[in-house]
Amino acid sequence: MASLGYFLVMLAATMVNTATAVSQEVGGPVEQVGVLVGQVVEYHLTGCHLVLITTTKHSHIFTNIVRHLGVAAVVVVEAGWVLSQDQLTQDHLLQELWGDTRTTCRALILDLTANNSVDLVFRLLESSGLWQLSETRVLVVGENEGVEEVLFHRHLRNIVHAFYLALQNLTTASVSERVWVYRRCLYCNNGEADVQLIHKWNLTSLPYHTADLFFQEQFLNFMGLKIQFSILRYFPYTDYTPGSKEPDSTVTLKDCLDARLLSVLSRKLNFSIEVSEPPQRIWGSQENGKFSGMLGLLQREEADIGVPISPQAERMSVMKFISAYESDVLSIVDHTPEGMEPFLTYFDQTYVTGSHRRAR
Ligand SMILES: *[C@@H]1O[C@H](CO)[C@@H](O)[C@H](O)[C@H]1NC(C)=O
Ligand SMILES: *[C@@H]1O[C@H](CO)[C@@H](O)[C@H](O)[C@H]1NC(C)=O
Ligand SMILES: *[C@@H]1O[C@H](CO)[C@@H](O)[C@H](O)[C@H]1NC(C)=O
Ligand SMILES: *[C@@H]1O[C@H](CO)[C@@H](O)[C@H](O)[C@H]1NC(C)=O
Repeated sequence: MASLGYFLVMLAATMVNTATAVSQEVGGPVEQVGVLVGQVVEYHLTGCHLVLITTTKHSHIFTNIVRHLGVAAVVVVEAGWVLSQDQLTQDHLLQELWGDTRTTCRALILDLTANNSVDLVFRLLESSGLWQLSETRVLVVGENEGVEEVLFHRHLRNIVHAFYLALQNLTTASVSERVWVYRRCLYCNNGEADVQLIHKWNLTSLPYHTADLFFQEQFLNFMGLKIQFSILRYFPYTDYTPGSKEPDSTVTLKDCLDARLLSVLSRKLNFSIEVSEPPQRIWGSQENGKFSGMLGLLQREEADIGVPISPQAERMSVMKFISAYESDVLSIVDHTPEGMEPFLTYFDQTYVTGSHRRAR
């Protein structure tokens, strides 16, 4: 079975080839693409777990990008190669690809310069579940025509930081001096995503000033984003007046804890809410991997947030829990245990939070 070590060996092989493959003019635009990417990596991605996905390793631009990365470790992946492996190997590779739970910063460079068929790359991103690693910093290098198709792609949804270096007049052997920088914002177009041209560079005019350009987004203003809530009555947390007899019609919130919280947050962060009851007015259960009710809406991404809902292992597969406030009305108080009773070691303190900590 291939492993991450194999990728790194592939990388080493690529580096060796590069030495002989550089027939391009030194300092010319093809080499400068590598210099520019290297600079973005140095200023903005140092210390990140860096993944470089390419459509092919046999291109001058790709070899120049790798040559100028100048970082200790990068995982280089040829999309087609991974997807040609058997399922077991693929799963294993994809698991290792993005680091582990201790990885706090992830970055992805997509090299789409050699092949405008991006299907394989996006299939790989889909299999990786990249959209759930929303903090991943994504930098795409590709031709000018592909900007919107790539940045608006479904498998980059939720990705907070996405940039595109758009090369002009790109062929397999050359590229013109102009490079345009695009940014995909998630909410800037009245709460919807948008692609904005933020800079134009001349590749042969050094130095490039990237400091204020990349990876600056902060969510202090959702620009009117409409967040879809699925809700069930559970006073005092939630309460509402039903809209119509239809079970999934929109409802009007009444005074309750969640309504108060939301009115403050929505004003502060500039979002609006649409609240409706889930199908059959139930939280939902699972059958053959498909949930019904509120959980079904979350699983199918038809609702953004479900309230109120308690953590259960089964539910974790289709949703993430945010804890907004402490809901316990009873606390169990006890002295600090000297050591855990053997039968309680299951309840490691890291899993037992809030006022139930140290319950015994
Ligand atoms: C581009 O990629 C597709 C598959 O994604 C492949 O069939 C095709 O041969 C590639 N073209 C080039 C020029 O590499
Ligand atoms: C690049 O392509 C544009 C048309 O898309 C053309 O006007 C321009 O002359 C080309 N530039 C170079 C350097 O080839
Ligand atoms: C880019 O810069 C070089 C050197 O400064 C200059 O000769 C060239 O005309 C510029 N190209 C464009 C498209 O502005
Ligand atoms: C909130 O979002 C709306 C819609 O995009 C926008 O017009 C408005 O300026 C934003 N309000 C603030 C305070 O930024």
